[in-house]
Amino acid sequence: MSPLNGSGANPLRDPADRRLPRIAGPSGLVIFGVTGDLSRKKLMPAVYDLANRGLLPPGFSLVGFARRDWEDEDFAQVVHDAVKEHARTPFREEVWQQLIQGMRFVQGTFDDDEAFERLRSTIDELDKQQGTGGNFAFYLSVPPGAFPVVIQQLKKSGLADQSKGSWRRAVIEKPFGHDLKSAEELNKVVHEVFEPDQVFRIDHYLGKETVQNILALRFANTMFEPIWNRSYVDHVQITMAEDIGIGGRAGYYDGIGAARDVIQNHLLQLLALTAMEEPSSFGADALAREKTKVLGAVRLPKDLGADTVRGQYAAGWQGGEKVIGYLQEDGIDPESKTDTYAALKLEIDNRRWAGVPFYLRTGKRLGRRVTEIAVVFQRAPHSPFDHTATEELGQNAIVIRVQPDEGITVRFGSKVPGTSMEIRDVSMDFAYGESFTESSPEAYERLILDVLLGDANLFPRTEEVELSWKILDPVEEYWDEHGRPAQYKSGTWGPAEADEMLARDGRSWRRP
Ligand SMILES: NC(=O)c1ccc[n+]([C@@H]2O[C@H](COP(=O)([O-])OP(=O)(O)OC[C@H]3O[C@@H](n4cnc5c(N)ncnc54)[C@H](OP(=O)(O)O)[C@@H]3O)[C@@H](O)[C@H]2O)c1
Repeated sequence: MSPLNGSGANPLRDPADRRLPRIAGPSGLVIFGVTGDLSRKKLMPAVYDLANRGLLPPGFSLVGFARRDWEDEDFAQVVHDAVKEHARTPFREEVWQQLIQGMRFVQGTFDDDEAFERLRSTIDELDKQQGTGGNFAFYLSVPPGAFPVVIQQLKKSGLADQSKGSWRRAVIEKPFGHDLKSAEELNKVVHEVFEPDQVFRIDHYLGKETVQNILALRFANTMFEPIWNRSYVDHVQITMAEDIGIGGRAGYYDGIGAARDVIQNHLLQLLALTAMEEPSSFGADALAREKTKVLGAVRLPKDLGADTVRGQYAAGWQGGEKVIGYLQEDGIDPESKTDTYAALKLEIDNRRWAGVPFYLRTGKRLGRRVTEIAVVFQRAPHSPFDHTATEELGQNAIVIRVQPDEGITVRFGSKVPGTSMEIRDVSMDFAYGESFTESSPEAYERLILDVLLGDANLFPRTEEVELSWKILDPVEEYWDEHGRPAQYKSGTWGPAEADEMLARDGRSWRRP
């Protein structure tokens, strides 16, 4: 019998000993939409990787719910194939054999009451056979339109009820709403069934090591925080660039676009972590308080026409291949106004950041796949080298490379060897791959484990989601009423308008 109790805390372990791995207590995971892309590529492999790392309890159970007419064995085969193809850690037969003991499949549609009854019996049976202790997380990896019906079915069937000493949790994928109004409506549905501490909204960026490292960089060191403010920082650039197009996801993407898909969640969360004040602890409440405060202080530019840009990729070249434009993609309305590129200038109304612009940009079919936060510092107030330096001195920068090539770069001026006092920009690099032998867990591994442990630090709260939509809604409304997205050639760094936006401020985008 595992010494772990239902809440995931281990009473036998000294809480001060942080070297011990965090192992989930008796529990199970139900995945709705288990035949989907996300489940196959990310969720099932993450469950296996957790099992392989010894972080799941012995009787851990995985229940798949979907429409297909499968038996448990068919489901197990699908999980097996997904794990073989996508898991991060090597396949080990003994781990697999243990995991398979708790695997079940429930067939049904979301509006089928009887299917939810069958799910209930399956869970009761697993509690007896596997010792899951009544602790189950329900992962909604389903089309966003189906979130409310699944939540309501969980209530109706009694599956959301927590009996004494056990827990039930809901995990909700993105996008959380389409705008503020729909996010508020969804929050209402969710909170009619679950208490706030039972709800885990996924923003998988927060599961990334490099994103959590923003907090370590800022608050576990002394040398960065004193200059992390308007007295030294000139501006901040947050970029998430993809080199691919929409692939087969026209149905999902058209009508949503880059700003809703990426800025509302990932980039505003990165902004919050970069700009927030130090939380009193790394606990969920303290973190949410600081993130909420800073998101509440974000101010949109007065001139949305000048300081926001949206674009759409046109045909061009990518990785040596000729590619078509967004409007020619399968399933896309040739008149579509959906943005595949979006850039915004934001300011933060507080003492630390007043007057420092935060430039956010994201896009598909850009020059390179990269996500980074660049904190760019003001130029030295006086340069004694002007006469001899061949170029204008650059600006110091700290660049947090979120992906790929995870790490941190510090850029500064250095003397070029020789007799003259020539200064040139150089970089000092920290790369995860070189400094640590352990490879980073996948974001979904970390987040699924956190759900099972009941750790809510890395999950955005209701207020954060709603504040983010409050920031984005006026921009989307402005875009709806004004013209069309600018076209940009695939494989470039976005529309010329985005370069002009920064040029007007005397700045330029980084070319990572
Ligand atoms: N894919 C990604 O990389 C990604 C990334 C971030 C977030 N997300 C989010 O994650 C969620 C899932 O995405 P996905 O790409 O995996 O979607 P998907 O491939 O379209 O899969 C949707 C799943 O929902 C099931 N489903 C749909 N309607 C149903 C109904 N009425 N009754 C029962 N099952 C139903 C489908 O089952 P059938 O097989 O029976 O149709 C399928 O298993 C979405 O909210 C998405 O926005 C996805």
